[in-house]
Amino acid sequence: MVQWQASHGRNHLPWQQTRDPYRVWLSEIMLQQTQVSTVLGYYQRFLDAFPDVASLAAAPQDAVLALWSGLGYYSRARNLHRCAQDVVEQWGGAFPRRSEDLATLPGIGRSTAGAIASFCFSERVPILDANVRRVLTRVLAFDDDLAVARNERKLWDLAQQLCPVDDLENAMPRYTQGMMDLGASVCLPKKPSCLVCPLQPQCRAARQGLPENYPVRTRKLKRSAESWWLLIAVDERQRVWLERRPEQGIWAGLYAPPVLQDRPALAEAAARRWPAAAAAQWRELPGFLHVLTHRDLHLHPVLVPVGAGVAPGVEGASGCWAGAQDWAGMGLPAPVRKLLDAQFGG
Ligand code: ADE
Ligand code: SF4
Repeated sequence: MVQWQASHGRNHLPWQQTRDPYRVWLSEIMLQQTQVSTVLGYYQRFLDAFPDVASLAAAPQDAVLALWSGLGYYSRARNLHRCAQDVVEQWGGAFPRRSEDLATLPGIGRSTAGAIASFCFSERVPILDANVRRVLTRVLAFDDDLAVARNERKLWDLAQQLCPVDDLENAMPRYTQGMMDLGASVCLPKKPSCLVCPLQPQCRAARQGLPENYPVRTRKLKRSAESWWLLIAVDERQRVWLERRPEQGIWAGLYAPPVLQDRPALAEAAARRWPAAAAAQWRELPGFLHVLTHRDLHLHPVLVPVGAGVAPGVEGASGCWAGAQDWAGMGLPAPVRKLLDAQFGG
């Protein structure tokens, strides 16, 4: 595995050119739910704005969310910010070196802690993200249900035993990266390329002939669908009324137009908040689908011209009028930013 990584793996990604835990940590959090090609640009912009953990810890949350805008899964950005603050306040500004300590920080689970500790400090610890879980369950023909915590722990124990034993300084970072690379490019969910796989001689699933049967998981999450009506109030200067979303739930902490559950609720909210806005001028824009992990959001934007920009009373306490230049620097959900930019030429 170690040799295969050196000759066939990815070795020129920016976060591989360093053993600085801040940079490695940032890349691992970004890569948790986002592809490498997308992360590259965000990673560089983020480091330009926050070159070290102290500058990130000192930043306002809005600035962090603005740089995260478009990456999705915004709880990652909030945990990232909190984690930086914990590192500064509880660890004297330097990331702890042991995976066990890293895993106590916000947003760092056992696998991410393993990645940071093995990449930066060559600790002999495994990772077990979705890709590596697939590789290992196949190699071992591990068919216990991973929805059961005890079985998950058993796989972690086996993963630990399979780590390299010699020359850990060099071998651990390569091994960890190699397992990631194998899962990303060879041991794919469908049609794994067993013929070119370095683990093929020892892989029990390949010998059995049906590697796609692993991993075994019974729990299936149900998807749900919702309609969200977006009340896009526009004032005479083409500014849009944006409100900060609650700290919990979809788009938490980001700025978005008021969200209503259906057309009548939107009409009612618009009439209550901006009584002067004539309903004849409202304009329903084409609806579109926004796909989240466990939910399909059907978004229905409605433009409501309100004349001179007046704040809509107490309910709008956490909102503001924002023009295209303003929202460029604010944390907006990606579909909302796209919609507003298209509508108001951002
Ligand atoms: N995904 C998670 N960590 C990664 C890394 N270090 N390189 C490439 N893809 C990854
Ligand atoms: Fe995956 Fe096939 Fe390699 Fe086994 S031999 S680890 S199933 S790619």
